[in-house]
Amino acid sequence: LPPESRLHWIRLLATLKRNPLECWRAEFFREPIARVRLPFADALLVHDPAAIRRVLIDNAGNYRKDPIQRRILANGLADGLLSVEDARWEAQRRMLAPLFARRTVTTFTGAMLTAVDRLTERWCNLGQGAAVDVAAEMALLTLNVLALTIFSDGIAGDYDEFRDAMNAYFAVIGRIGVLDLLGVPQSVPRPGGGRLRRTMTYFEGIIDRIIEARRDRLAATPAGEPPADLLTLLLRALDPSTGQSMSLTEVRSNILTFLSAGHETTANALSWSIFLLSQSSPWRARVREEAARELAGPVEGVADRLVVTRAVVEEALRLYPPIAALSRMAKGPDRLGGVAVEPRTLIVIAPYVLHRHLLLWDQPGTFDPSRFLPEQRSRVGRFAYLPFGIGPRICIGASFALQEATIALAALTRRFETELLPDAKVWPSQKITLRPEHGLPMRVTPRDCG
Ligand code: HEM
Repeated sequence: LPPESRLHWIRLLATLKRNPLECWRAEFFREPIARVRLPFADALLVHDPAAIRRVLIDNAGNYRKDPIQRRILANGLADGLLSVEDARWEAQRRMLAPLFARRTVTTFTGAMLTAVDRLTERWCNLGQGAAVDVAAEMALLTLNVLALTIFSDGIAGDYDEFRDAMNAYFAVIGRIGVLDLLGVPQSVPRPGGGRLRRTMTYFEGIIDRIIEARRDRLAATPAGEPPADLLTLLLRALDPSTGQSMSLTEVRSNILTFLSAGHETTANALSWSIFLLSQSSPWRARVREEAARELAGPVEGVADRLVVTRAVVEEALRLYPPIAALSRMAKGPDRLGGVAVEPRTLIVIAPYVLHRHLLLWDQPGTFDPSRFLPEQRSRVGRFAYLPFGIGPRICIGASFALQEATIALAALTRRFETELLPDAKVWPSQKITLRPEHGLPMRVTPRDCG
């Protein structure tokens, strides 16, 4: 439909709300920079490596996280790392960096394996050929990993209640309404607002209770031997320039940020990896062979030894990046690849498009994890592959997520045969994250439950 027709805008809005992925046109996968008109703003789709570098690194100060993204994040995450800006962001990033450094993340290997063991035990008890929604199971697994790594066993007793509240919370914050797309301020009540407030109050209560209990324990524990879960590290973190710790509001907001940012994203990475492996028996065999060898060895450093499995995860993140689009808003004028940028222009860098761009990838539609094996990895362009973003606001949890997904994929592939149910329809849908629209219904058959 021509852009002057009102029906064009109504259709576009409806598609954006239902599944923005269906708005990407074929030419976007060939053009380095494209200009598009959206119902609420003009946007530049930027998939030229030099221009991406300018927006996210060299001239990053001119681009802020855009208001639509910020509106989604406003609910309970406003004071956490994903949402804060400028000096507060810098201070928080400095304080949180050690929590997600590789050497800290390695200490979570045991907790990750424990969560995976619980899942495999449950799947082993299902018997032969049970039908399972693997996407829902992966969401449960990644929530368990976060519960164990953030709180250790702190929510053990209330786990089911906590999980239900978490799901209710995601269901509300994940709903991007037409009001949001049109830029109607958050002060205007949205459907589900009451439910969201009740859920938030519940979380604040539970998190405050855990923090209180933890403070007593921390006071009794010598600083040299921390019980190293993320909450403890967060409560102990000090701003190097002021020597101050975080306020209670910031601690709460960051816990919710870790839960929100690390839960569905990693679950989707795993679901897509399992789906892609189910379509490729040669790669399934390679992962299985590697998993049998390496998981039998020492726990320490196991994720680093699972190089084939990690390559599969990275290839799944290429084809189905959980964060399918990054967006920024220009503060002042700029030029990107010869195109003038006006202040307030929306810049969209879509990993989904970038990772399948015909100018940047050989056979972009083909599942080929060998692109990410150590001997070929250096051929992947630095600005052609951005599942975790790049620059100062790169995902702080990238090592955490890769380690978790690699370990879980290896363990599950080793012990189970997973095949799509014959009538399954697998279709990627971009809600907040890129997930299989109808879940991932699979038949799970134990092959090694001894
Ligand atoms: C930021 C992707 C897992 C915490 C980001 C960004 C991306 C991303 C693309 C940058 C957004 C932007 O520049 O606008 C992913 C993917 C994951 C994942 C694909 C899993 C496969 C995690 C995990 C955590 C986490 C496990 C924590 C437990 C964060 C935080 C930020 C962030 C706090 C904000 C960083 C900042 O602004 O300084 N993530 N993420 N993410 N991620 Fe992740």
